[in-house]
Amino acid sequence: MEIRHLQSADYDVLIPQINEWWGGRDMAGMLPKLFFNHFKNTSFIVEDEGKIAGFVIGFLSQDQLDEAYIHFVGVHPDYRKKNIGKTLYETFFTKVKGADRKIIRSITSPVNKTSIAFHQKMGFVMEQGDKTVDGIAVKANDDGVGNDRILFRKEIE
Ligand SMILES: CC(C)(COP(=O)(O)OP(=O)(O)OC[C@H]1O[C@@H](n2cnc3c(N)ncnc32)[C@H](O)[C@@H]1OP(=O)(O)O)[C@@H](O)C(=O)NCCC(=O)NCCS
Repeated sequence: MEIRHLQSADYDVLIPQINEWWGGRDMAGMLPKLFFNHFKNTSFIVEDEGKIAGFVIGFLSQDQLDEAYIHFVGVHPDYRKKNIGKTLYETFFTKVKGADRKIIRSITSPVNKTSIAFHQKMGFVMEQGDKTVDGIAVKANDDGVGNDRILFRKEIE
C-alpha cells in the first residue's frame, strides 16, 4: 500500500464508485471536480498496486486560520478495518499541523453510524447541536433543508 497526494485524474476513477462505497447513498454529487483540482495539497489517496483503496479530501480553512476541514473520507468496502481510514486521517493531521492548524472539523449524517464510530476513534468530539436525533446532538438543516448533521471537532497538539 502506498499513500500519495490526490490528483485531478482521480476524479474519473472515484466518482463512478462513490455511491457504492456509501452503501447506495447518493454522494457523488457532493464531490464536484473542484475538490480534485484545488485541494490536492491537503488531500490523499491510498493505493494498493495501482488500485484506489481509500481517499481523504480536506483543506485549510480560508477564514479560521487555526482550523482545517475534512470534507470526505472513503475506504473501498474490500479494504475496511485495515487502518486505511486512520492512516489517511493521520496523514491529513500531520499536513495541517505543519500549517499551524490546531482544530479540525468535519460533519456527518446521524444515520452514518460507521462514520460516527470512526470519528470518535480518531479523537473527534461532537459539538453541541440544536436538536437530538437517535439520542445524538445534531445541527438541524446544517447541510441543506432536512439534512441534519453531527458537527465533529478535534484539537491537535
Ligand atoms: C468510515 C470509514 C472511512 C472507516 O475507514 P476504515 O479504513 O475502515 O477505518 P480504520 O480501519 O482506519 O479504523 C480506524 C478506527 O475506527 C474504527 N472503526 C472503523 N470502522 C468501524 C465500524 N464500522 N464500527 C466501529 N468502529 C469502526 C476501527 O475499529 C479503528 O479503531 P481502533 O484504532 O481503535 O481499532 C469507512 O468505513 C468508509 O469508507 N465508510 C463509507 C464512507 C463513509 O461513511 N465515510 C465517512 C463520512 S464522509
